[in-house]
Amino acid sequence: MVKVDGKGNGTSLVQVRELDKKYQRGSEEIHVLQGLNLDVGSGEFVAFMGPSGSGKTTLLNLLGGLDLPTSGSIKVAGDEITRMSANKLTAWRARHVGFIFQMYNLIPVLTAFQNVELPLLLTKLSKADRKKHVETALAMVGLADRMNHYPRQLSGGQEQRVAIARAIVADATFLLADEPTGDLDRRSAGEIMELLDRLVHEHGKTLLMVTHDPRAAERAHVVLHLDKGVLVEGGAGGGGEA
Ligand SMILES: Nc1ncnc2c1ncn2[C@@H]1O[C@H](COP(=O)(O)OP(=O)(O)O)[C@@H](O)[C@H]1O
Ligand SMILES: [Mg+2]
Repeated sequence: MVKVDGKGNGTSLVQVRELDKKYQRGSEEIHVLQGLNLDVGSGEFVAFMGPSGSGKTTLLNLLGGLDLPTSGSIKVAGDEITRMSANKLTAWRARHVGFIFQMYNLIPVLTAFQNVELPLLLTKLSKADRKKHVETALAMVGLADRMNHYPRQLSGGQEQRVAIARAIVADATFLLADEPTGDLDRRSAGEIMELLDRLVHEHGKTLLMVTHDPRAAERAHVVLHLDKGVLVEGGAGGGGEA
C-alpha cells in the first residue's frame, strides 16, 4: 500500500502531502522537493533512489523531523510533525525514529553497549531495564560478544550493526536509513541488508532507506525514484516493480 499519488486512504503510518522544500544559497533558490506525496503502511520496506543531489537526504531528514519543510504536511501515526515546536519535535524524534547513517555516527569514546544505551537515557527505564534492552538489541544484530568493544575495535560492518542496534533499542515507530551500505564492501553490505531484511520480515519494523545500490534496493517491497522533486515508482534497479 505504498503510494505516491496523494490518494492514500488515511490509514498509512506515514502520510506526506504536497511536501515542498526550498533552500536559499546566496541569491540562488534551490527547489528540492516540489509537491511530493507519499503513503507508507506499517511493516513496509521502501527504498528511495535517485541521482546525487536529487533530494534523498533532504526527504529522509524531513521524515525524521531533523529539518522543517517550506510547506506541506507530514503525519506519522497521526502526529503532524511539521507544526511541532522544537522541544516537542525532539521528544517525538526520540520516541519514534531510529536513524541509521552511512558513516554509522557512533560516539568513539563509548563502547558498543554505551552507544546503544544512549537513546534509552532519554527514557524513564531503570538501569537494569536499560541493560536488558541493550543486550537484546545487540543480540539481534549478532554482536552479543562485542558489547565492551569501542568503535575503533570493530569493522565497518560491525559498527553499522551497532548503529542498527541503537536505532531499534527504543522500539522506534520507523527506521530511516541513509545509504546504510554506502561505505561497506560488498560482503559486509550484503550482511547489513540481510539484517535489515530480518528486522522488517521477522520483527515487523517499518524501514525507509535511501540507497545507490541496486542490490540493496531489490530487497525493498517498493523502489521509489526521486525525479524533479517528486517520487515515481519502479524503474532502474527496481525489484520487479512495473
Ligand atoms: N542545508 C542546505 N543548504 C543549501 N542547499 C542544500 C542544503 N542541503 C542540501 N542542499 C541542496 O539540496 C539538493 C539536494 O541535496 P540532498 O538532499 O543532500 O541530495 P541527495 O541526498 O539526493 O544527494 C542539492 O542540490 C544540495 O546541494
Ligand atoms: Mg544524500
